[in-house]
Amino acid sequence: MAVTGDDVAQDAPEVACLMEDLRRKCGLKPDDLLGRKIAGVLRQHPAGKRRAWADDLVARPPDDPAWLAFVETVTVHETYFFRDPAQLAVLSDRFLPALLESRAAAGKRFLRLWSAGCASGEEAYSAAILVLDAIAARGENARDWSITVLGSDISRTILARAWEGIYGGPGLNAFRRLPDRHARHFTPCMGERAGLRRISDELAGLAAFCQHNLMDAQPPGTGFDIALCRNVFIYFDEAAQQRAVGALHRGLVDGGLLLLGVTDRLPPGSGFVREPCGTAVIYRRGALP
Ligand SMILES: C[S@@+](CC[C@H](N)C(=O)[O-])C[C@H]1O[C@@H](n2cnc3c(N)ncnc32)[C@H](O)[C@@H]1O
Repeated sequence: MAVTGDDVAQDAPEVACLMEDLRRKCGLKPDDLLGRKIAGVLRQHPAGKRRAWADDLVARPPDDPAWLAFVETVTVHETYFFRDPAQLAVLSDRFLPALLESRAAAGKRFLRLWSAGCASGEEAYSAAILVLDAIAARGENARDWSITVLGSDISRTILARAWEGIYGGPGLNAFRRLPDRHARHFTPCMGERAGLRRISDELAGLAAFCQHNLMDAQPPGTGFDIALCRNVFIYFDEAAQQRAVGALHRGLVDGGLLLLGVTDRLPPGSGFVREPCGTAVIYRRGALP
């Protein structure tokens, strides 16, 4: 049943209190849509118990399973393979070949990537495909490189889907932008899951996933050469964006690349410098002022 403005108004104090809690613990920007989602969750509880339920949630820390379960009901996990192909083309045509070349020249055949706010993993696997392609374009074997693609997200449920690596179910078509040449990285599922496609063992071997809140000062790892944090900042308020930028800065190596969503821009003083590459939103990590 659709949640209306009246429903939000009916539980206004609880909605406001949970909205502020979401802003504080995971950076989500308060808006009408978020208010309606919260009101929808509240309506699943008897009217007389909603206040106590909300107070209980607010008192829980951001890593509490009940609080995380609540977050999952209000966050947006829309994603698909090869989202923003123009940006990924710049990565594969320009930055990846240069990075691989400099690593190979230094005898350091490794690369670390981080997909922050990866949802069900399509972004992380897309990046892994591009790295495999770039290695193949050098006439080299991926087995001679150490490649890690870490996907992180606040939602554990969505990460379980990333680990599983099976796509094509009802809803948004994960493959709608997948170039034909990359279809070989997926194999059709059989039996009950016929119609779906599973990522190749090679891709599965490159990627790992972990739960991480971008409001945490510490990233889920360090020494990343490239971070992708696309279509996440749009849900954050300004203070939350700054916190996330801090975590991304700490996670990347000096000179590492940060790929953002098409409408995202970093303010001066963020410790990143925009790379001149047309409409593709790519920043390079510099020193903090
Ligand atoms: C719209 S999806 C973006 C997926 C992918 N990056 C893309 O561009 O296709 C946004 C993701 O950000 C995650 N997210 C929201 N707040 C977060 C936070 N504070 N820390 C980490 N992930 C968060 C959500 O769970 C969701 O999966």
